[in-house]
Amino acid sequence: MTLVIKAREDAVDDSTLKPAARAIRVGGVVIFPTETVYGIGADAFNPRAVRKIFEIKKRPADNPLIVHIAKLEDLEKLVKTIPHEARKLIDAFWPGPLTLILPKKDHVPKEATAGLPTVAVRMPAHRVALKLIELSETPIAAPSANPAGKPSGTDGRHVIEDFYGKVDVIIDGGRTSLGLESTVLDLTGEKPRIVRPGFITREDIESVLSKEVEIYVPKKNEKPVSPGMKYRHYAPDAEMMVVTGDEREKLKKMKNAVEKMLWEGKKIGLILFRDDIPAELAHLERVENCVIKICSSDERLAASKLFSTLREFDEDGVDTILAEGKEERGLWLAIMNRVKKAAGGKLL
Ligand code: TXA
Ligand code: MG
Repeated sequence: MTLVIKAREDAVDDSTLKPAARAIRVGGVVIFPTETVYGIGADAFNPRAVRKIFEIKKRPADNPLIVHIAKLEDLEKLVKTIPHEARKLIDAFWPGPLTLILPKKDHVPKEATAGLPTVAVRMPAHRVALKLIELSETPIAAPSANPAGKPSGTDGRHVIEDFYGKVDVIIDGGRTSLGLESTVLDLTGEKPRIVRPGFITREDIESVLSKEVEIYVPKKNEKPVSPGMKYRHYAPDAEMMVVTGDEREKLKKMKNAVEKMLWEGKKIGLILFRDDIPAELAHLERVENCVIKICSSDERLAASKLFSTLREFDEDGVDTILAEGKEERGLWLAIMNRVKKAAGGKLL
């Protein structure tokens, strides 16, 4: 049985969240909202409870989790040192969508870090999440709440569909505000390095540290630093491709590909990062087997809509999704990272 609790961010109260905190304390698994995406969490210091998350998500055992905290004292319980750069970033971005990788203390269970000597930590900017951690009196290890490989859950409705009956408690806080995961920044090497782009951009971090930040790109055959990098992720059931090129090329490629696939009898989904349907594609709007979704030219709006849009295409039963590519600057770097992974790297 799963207990579903409705909790609004603007009206958080202890008594509503107490049953969820109790579940965490006795080694249960709780799904909770954050400002980025939903998390599926357990007591970070309880190895058995953490193992349950891997089983429920079918997450590969070598992919470590993010440990969520509600106060800075919790960070000291988890990491050996807090370098000067980490402090600056914490001042600037916590609570918020930035995860820091630091050397872990020995007592942090290997289950939470997949055996790595480091731990990923973040303080979410969501009052329900913070209250849950506080009432549980322990840091909560939680990956995104989605079956491994699928788009991350950004709405209470999604996580209930995917996990009802599989976890102890689901806290339904409606739609998450940002809709895209946190940036994961490795601070254990010589230079700060983004191992997963996310809502806080490279430019944001560079301006706080006044130095260059690297973006980690795994080389072929190399064991990735952030194990999550190597899996196909965020993938809808439909086949997906990213359409690249300048404006003219993109529209031409989309038009030709859609017409060809329609002729083959396929149902097509188009995801456009703009605010109107361009004239070149206007004729497709009236075609029954072509579903066009406008996902905004504004990077923040586009980020918040991406995962739910991918899920909607599956509900519509489309066979192939064509996603518009964008120049990978600012938040578009993280958005395109998710889009390309969802497409398994397939470009058109
Ligand atoms: O916004 C978010 O980050 C959400 C919410 C729930 O907080 N969480 C999330 O967790 O997206 P997850 O597990 O889906 O992604 C965590 C990423 C993975 O790519 C994982 O490989 C990486 O962080 N990671 C975790 N611990 C690491 C470590 N010690 N070293 C390198 N990468 C690590
Ligand atoms: Mg995830």
